Order: sequence, then structure tokens, then C-alpha cells
Amino acid sequence: MKDQVRSNWQQAVLVCRKCSKKLDGGFGPRGDERLAKALRRHLSIKKGRKAAAGIIEVDCLGVCPKGAVTVVNGAASRDWLLVRPDADLDMLASELGLPVGADR
Ligand code: FES
Repeated sequence: MKDQVRSNWQQAVLVCRKCSKKLDGGFGPRGDERLAKALRRHLSIKKGRKAAAGIIEVDCLGVCPKGAVTVVNGAASRDWLLVRPDADLDMLASELGLPVGADR
């Protein structure tokens, strides 16, 4: 068994799955896409460890904001973001340090 496994992630972002569920998606062109998926699609980032970045849905983070999704930036984990459905995904991506179109 290996002690380490390499990934191509330049960044890791945790997105609350339960917040996303409560909003019935809330993101994407029709407002029915979950934030993690909308971000991945918007930035052309694939899933899994071979992707350029990890955008991972996790269980409730204990903040439970109304009308927003809790997001943790792995590189700046002391300030969590509460992302509302009207958020600009380009601005969010640059705030989170996510690469744009790296998996195209
Ligand atoms: S439901 Fe998302 S932080 Fe609790």
C-alpha cells in the first residue's frame, strides 16, 4: 500500500452539500444547478484527483446560512464564504484562486 497519492489539484474548495440542497441548486443558467457543479462547469474543471482543482461537496459545515452556500477555501481556511445564488462565478473563482479552463 502506498503512503501517498498524487493529485493535480492546485487548490481545494469545500462546498456544503446540504446548503446546496436547501437552495434546490440555486446556481447555473437556470438556477437549478448546485454550486459545486456550476463552478466546475463554468471553469471547465473536471472531477477527481486528475482535475486541475478539487471542488468537493461535503456534509454540513455547521454554519447553515439562509439563502446561501457555505464554502471553504482550502488555501485560506480561516475565512469561510457564504455564497448567494446571485454571486458572480468569475469573481468567486478568482477569490478562491481556482484555475479557469485548466482541464479543457
Ligand atoms: S447546511 Fe450548509 S453549513 Fe449547514
